[in-house]
Amino acid sequence: MSLIASRLARIKPSPTVAVTTKAAELKAAGRDVIGLGAGEPDFDTPEHIKEAAVAAMKAGQTKYTPVAGTVALRQAIQAKFKRENGLDYGLDEITVGCGGKQIIYNAMMATLEPGDEVIIPAPYWVSYPDIALLAEGTPVIVECAEADGFKMRPEALEKAITKRSKWLILNSPSNPTGAAYSRAELEALCEVLKAHDHVLVLSDDIYEHVIYDDFVFSTAAEVAPELKPRTLTLNGVSKAYCMTGWRVGYGAGPAELINAMNKIQSQSTTHTASISQAAAAAALDGPQDFIAEHNAVFKDRRDLVVSMLNQAPGLACARPEGAFYVYPSCAGCMGKKTAEGKRLESDEDFVTYLLEAEGVAAVHGAAFGLSPYFRVSYAAATELLEEACRRIQRACAALA
Ligand SMILES: Cc1ncc(COP(=O)(O)O)c(C=O)c1O
Repeated sequence: MSLIASRLARIKPSPTVAVTTKAAELKAAGRDVIGLGAGEPDFDTPEHIKEAAVAAMKAGQTKYTPVAGTVALRQAIQAKFKRENGLDYGLDEITVGCGGKQIIYNAMMATLEPGDEVIIPAPYWVSYPDIALLAEGTPVIVECAEADGFKMRPEALEKAITKRSKWLILNSPSNPTGAAYSRAELEALCEVLKAHDHVLVLSDDIYEHVIYDDFVFSTAAEVAPELKPRTLTLNGVSKAYCMTGWRVGYGAGPAELINAMNKIQSQSTTHTASISQAAAAAALDGPQDFIAEHNAVFKDRRDLVVSMLNQAPGLACARPEGAFYVYPSCAGCMGKKTAEGKRLESDEDFVTYLLEAEGVAAVHGAAFGLSPYFRVSYAAATELLEEACRRIQRACAALA
């Protein structure tokens, strides 16, 4: 009898975590490595949020909370949806988990029968297919070309839907491309979904606030109210509020789904930490002006990285609408040889070369389901980004 359950064979450890770990190991061994793999803001959690956590601790908010989250936090989430998205949810239609990731996990575990299909536009966040697989679902990957802005076309969605389709996962702005759907683009996808009422929508809005220029954020339940009864709107405080380590994410949807998700959570983590919940409520209810300040910094970094990567021979980098990632094509480097005589055949070869030759750690596109590309996170200090891009330019120029 094997020690490890066969369900583990279906999934792989997160490739983005693997890159971050490898970069940290090389650094510890004395190598000069710049990590561009991280999916978290380099800014610290704002002070007023930390103070709310301290106050909660001192006030004795140190006991179990309701599985779905404290009433105070769910009220803050309810107010957020009303204020920012024009969406009305009851407190029984809101659940809080240990990060947005647990919300997705709970949703898939609560709804998928073996073989149910989960439509995932690629490039995708690495966890979607693996969470679907763990829950015995079948990921149906729909490749979204760069020519379409890495966004799913309505025709492609229509083609992907079958009788077994249970979920469509939408993520805008996207990890890994930063691409975001305009209201019209989202409406066109929702139009397709209206004709298929067995398909649930998971709208992953975790990068809602990380947007640039004049981009206006929209979410499925808002642009197509008919779909709201079968939409799970997912969000969290990790990215916009710089709270990745606090582990608070939330979802809103029909009470039947939310109840089922709470049931799963009641037999796993019970709830996220009471102190983190108090901090998240303070984040949502408190001042929001630091978000624009952070975005101004991110925008300058995006423009710097896009411009510098486009000067590297063999790379082509689109300028995305949001998040803190770019997803440059390395097609122009494929087939070229390194100084050591190694031919680059894939984006994985390319990122391995960047790490070995110049000590720059990025994540290969194959991990996100679309090649030959790689993901650069610009949630890093501007001077480091500049140095990293110079090294990438040098590495590309050295290829023959
Ligand atoms: C697209 C996307 N969704 C969800 C998450 C989950 O974030 P968390 O679990 O920290 O809330 C992430 C984190 O990287 C992400 O990139």
